[in-house]
Amino acid sequence: MSDKILKVSRRTLLSGAAGAAALTVTPRLFSPAIAQNAPLKVGLMLPYTGTYAKLGQFIDSGFKLFAEQKGGKLGGRAIEFVQVDDESKPEAATDNMNRLVGREKVDLVVGTVHSGVAMAMVKVARDTNTMMIIPNAGANDATGPMCAPNIFRTSFSNWQTTFPAGKVLVDAGIKNVVTITWRYTAGAEMMGGFTENFTKHGGKVVEDLTLPFPEVEFQALITRIATLRPDAVFSFFAGGGAVKFVKDYAAAGLNKSIPLYGAGFLTDGTLQAQGEAANGIKTTLHYADNLDNPANLAFLKAFKAKTGQDGDIYAVQGFDAAALFDIGLTAVGGDAKARDKMIAAMGAAKIDSPRGPLSFNKAHNPIQNIYLREVRNGRNEMVSIAQANVDDPARGCKLA
Ligand code: BEZ
Repeated sequence: MSDKILKVSRRTLLSGAAGAAALTVTPRLFSPAIAQNAPLKVGLMLPYTGTYAKLGQFIDSGFKLFAEQKGGKLGGRAIEFVQVDDESKPEAATDNMNRLVGREKVDLVVGTVHSGVAMAMVKVARDTNTMMIIPNAGANDATGPMCAPNIFRTSFSNWQTTFPAGKVLVDAGIKNVVTITWRYTAGAEMMGGFTENFTKHGGKVVEDLTLPFPEVEFQALITRIATLRPDAVFSFFAGGGAVKFVKDYAAAGLNKSIPLYGAGFLTDGTLQAQGEAANGIKTTLHYADNLDNPANLAFLKAFKAKTGQDGDIYAVQGFDAAALFDIGLTAVGGDAKARDKMIAAMGAAKIDSPRGPLSFNKAHNPIQNIYLREVRNGRNEMVSIAQANVDDPARGCKLA
């Protein structure tokens, strides 16, 4: 494994003004009493470069914001971080994860964004019984056939974000669509969820267009959409790729004639770069910028104060990952070795999340509202709750 691929850095959180100061890692201590007070090691395996770099950075900042609000501790234990740039490369994921688990001996792995990378991580987490919280990647199988007591997700399943959209489009009078996405797990499963519900309500998918991840040469596919002239387009892209797709779609003039819909990642954390090209795009997601519950208002204010940037769904998912681990650790007085009790507390958690109420199903996937949003004035504004308390079917999960 090359050092270029695996960039590990270490940080310990301090409370107060020192906030996110970087420190040398504290050596492991051997007395059980002292070890109990030693910092817990959290591995952040996220994309810090590439098309998903901003997503990874916001998850990282959201997690650290929560810990800072708790005085640099989770469940009363100081936290130290080991960061790995996974570059959204599935082929490097097993080595990266093995290094965190085997060499760094982390107490928890938080990762990642890309579904293919996450599935490789899930396999290692299962094999080594390592605690893992997925703060974005939606791979259905992670909380389906590969579900496990030690694996939680604070984001969504790919099915979950787009299934409600199928009915939304039919209700809007749309009879036929073209879908367009990257050719990998997340794209296929998000289009699958949408298509399941759209066709169930009488809609027809005229053509599924794909290109390899993370390519952004959209021109030929946009020309194909113009030829097919569907009632609407349904899409999944995220990060840098979503910025380019939305701009190219508008530059071709299609935003004036064929409405663009998608999973909310198309316009989350991307609006500043997309500018006017994003106006009017409707998406479904478990978050909207203008949710006016107290938790969201406080979160957005604190995130802006910490980073100077507007919070988004990725920051919320990182924030909630820390909140979930805090609940588990608090239940065991900070003793991460009391695994069964900690997992039970995490599974029963009811979090007052910035996204609204958040709880977990038997497979440890979130149960949450999915909102219909529209881009207005540079924000993803809530139009309605597309479907309340959406629970992934957890197909293939054997947990009771
Ligand atoms: C995924 O690969 O699961 C994914 C990546 C970015 C946004 C949403 C999902």
